[in-house]
Amino acid sequence: MFHSHENSSGEPFTKMTDSKSSNISDIIRGRRTIHNFRVNEVPDDEIILKAIEAAKWAPNHHLTEPWRLYLLGQETINGIIDLNTRLVTEKHGMEAGKDKQERWSKMPGWLVISCNRSDDKLQMHEDYAACCCLIQNLMLYLWSEGIGMKWSTGDVIRDRQFYDLLWIDPQAEEVIGIFWYGYPDDIPVTARKSLEQIIVKLP
Ligand SMILES: Cc1cc2nc3c(=O)[nH]c(=O)nc-3n(C[C@H](O)[C@H](O)[C@H](O)COP(=O)(O)O)c2cc1C
Repeated sequence: MFHSHENSSGEPFTKMTDSKSSNISDIIRGRRTIHNFRVNEVPDDEIILKAIEAAKWAPNHHLTEPWRLYLLGQETINGIIDLNTRLVTEKHGMEAGKDKQERWSKMPGWLVISCNRSDDKLQMHEDYAACCCLIQNLMLYLWSEGIGMKWSTGDVIRDRQFYDLLWIDPQAEEVIGIFWYGYPDDIPVTARKSLEQIIVKLP
């Protein structure tokens, strides 16, 4: 299932031709951010709910369970696409807006994840970390089922109208991403630093 290559620093990187696996190392190393999905193939809600059920067992200091997961229907998706098209058009022009509209209209499954806000800065920091643990769990679970994801943090998720479209109170929650999911059309290849570059051994 894996093809190993060598990059310039000698660290192997991996490309998976088939994302379905039950081996934890294969799943972690093989998961990739998917930019292109097979069109019109939306994974069943059942598998997404199973993935969320597993993902919520993420480590979480003080068990605040600060996450909310919004499963989007077509009406909300259309609203987000329209809003994003307008924002991109204002910033980068008509052509860029049209390109984004076309791309986003092809995204199969849509999920938005938010994190509860807190007046306590440390609490918020740790809650965001816990949400990231849940998200990685989710991505790995889905990857093991042959489903890829893309985490997107573009300008639109910080727009007040985005919160209105999702009925989210911006004082109470912070949106931390749009997550598209579906069956990969192609799987990118990436590399990572070698162990020597990231490990510091202390006496
Ligand atoms: C917090 C966070 C935000 C991200 N936002 C974006 C984004 O807005 N657009 C994008 O193309 N990828 C985004 N990504 C995905 C990263 O670009 C991707 O993980 C990175 O290129 C490594 O690729 P891999 O996930 O295939 O290992 C985001 C990832 C994280 C963790």
